[in-house]
Amino acid sequence: PQTIYFTRHGESEYNVLGRIGGDANLSPRGQKYAHALSEYINAIAGQEPMAVWTSELRRTKQTAAEIMAPKRAVRALNELDAGICEGLTYEEMQERFPQEFAWRDQDKLRYRYPWGESYIDIMTRLRPVLSALEDEDNVVVVGHQAVLRCMLGYFLDAKLDELPYMTVPLHTIVKLTSYGYKYKVEMIKLPI
Ligand code: F6P
Repeated sequence: PQTIYFTRHGESEYNVLGRIGGDANLSPRGQKYAHALSEYINAIAGQEPMAVWTSELRRTKQTAAEIMAPKRAVRALNELDAGICEGLTYEEMQERFPQEFAWRDQDKLRYRYPWGESYIDIMTRLRPVLSALEDEDNVVVVGHQAVLRCMLGYFLDAKLDELPYMTVPLHTIVKLTSYGYKYKVEMIKLPI
């Protein structure tokens, strides 16, 4: 059976500051997760074929750095582009762009940041990645909060309106194992 290991990148410097988007490095805790994740995956990759897909952003590449398996950096896995709000905290967004903040709150699924993207936009760009993923054997996908909500929503048949609120915690592997055309889910929180 196919197994897909989804994980967010380890905690980044921007996660620590509560800032949106950007291309920050991992925090010291995030580096610990990168280490724990590679130990976990390397034990499996010693027995079975394994591929690793990251985004093009530093925090996912740094998270996968010690995994011993072929890696691909996939642009379509990059995090939601927050346009004019990149680098702000949610409080700063609310102060500077109160109307945008309210619109996003009213319809988080369809809200598109000015010069940026919506969740629906992410789903559109993910479509080719999702079909390519179904052709792989074992894959580790090191991604980002919004992108992983969309991918997990796709595999687990979530309702579209629930997607932007799905919980995808840091430092946790979401392991999907196929059986028939469905997937079994396990959440594996790595101690760091
Ligand atoms: O805060 C981390 C982050 O990945 C941001 O880069 C991104 O804009 C956000 O999460 C997506 O989550 P939400 O849609 O809940 O704002």
